[in-house]
Amino acid sequence: MRNTGPLKVTKVHPLFGAEVSGIDITRPLSAREFGPIRAAFEEHSVLLFRDQPMDDEKQVQFSELFGPLETTGSSNPAAGTKFQRQSNLDIMTGEPIPPDDMRMIYQKANYFWHSDSSFKHVPSLCSILTARVCPPEGGNTEFLSMRAAWNALPPALQATIHPLIAEHSLQYSRDRVQKGILSAKAIAELPPVKQRLFRDNPVNGRRALYIGAHAGFIVGWPRATGEALLYELSQRADQPEFRLSHAWREGDVIVWDNRAVLHRATYYDTVKYKRFMQRTTIGGDLPTVPQ
Ligand SMILES: [Fe+2]
Repeated sequence: MRNTGPLKVTKVHPLFGAEVSGIDITRPLSAREFGPIRAAFEEHSVLLFRDQPMDDEKQVQFSELFGPLETTGSSNPAAGTKFQRQSNLDIMTGEPIPPDDMRMIYQKANYFWHSDSSFKHVPSLCSILTARVCPPEGGNTEFLSMRAAWNALPPALQATIHPLIAEHSLQYSRDRVQKGILSAKAIAELPPVKQRLFRDNPVNGRRALYIGAHAGFIVGWPRATGEALLYELSQRADQPEFRLSHAWREGDVIVWDNRAVLHRATYYDTVKYKRFMQRTTIGGDLPTVPQ
């Protein structure tokens, strides 16, 4: 058996993130084997597993250990499946999609810091991304510790935002790329939802700032004032020392906690290189606020 031995969890950044080794996650895991992985997830927020050659079936099997999977909306090429496809390759031909194609322009929203599915009434627990084909350079995924971001806020600002509710929508993040880019069908599927500006981890109680590109404004505030507050919070959160940048190798698997980190994609040459990543998203169990 590959990759077996004592499970090892090694921190990769002073604030968050860990590499987990000594386990083969492409095979079925017992509850006893999964327990320490789940505990490491609650503690470190981002888990990296190397040399795990995933296919779709194995990825679903591993992902379901964290909980039921979300299905994908009509705005992704993998609509109706359990996968969010992150790729510059045409799903039918396998060849690179031209950069001016709407499918590529649409993906640019991933360059903004966001929390996957914060635009859903019950936002997601975590996402799992597996590297199937990687460019030799670029295409990193970056993570931002929102626990560190929360802790760094002045207490008066923490008190100000504690009772506030933000409205999130997929439309808000897509409009940042190009106004009106989202189809009427996709908009109708996902009406705006309300979210608190923080999330507490139910296991260890650690609080994280909860914002990101899907957050549009503050409920009950003038729109411009709410946007200004969200902008200020995002600027305060985006400190280099709160960031973790991952350069992908084929066979890498990363699990990140959407309650505790924001993430973003970074540039790669989509004409020259091929990139194919598969994401599964595990649903959360509770809304952050009554709707
Ligand atoms: Fe994402």
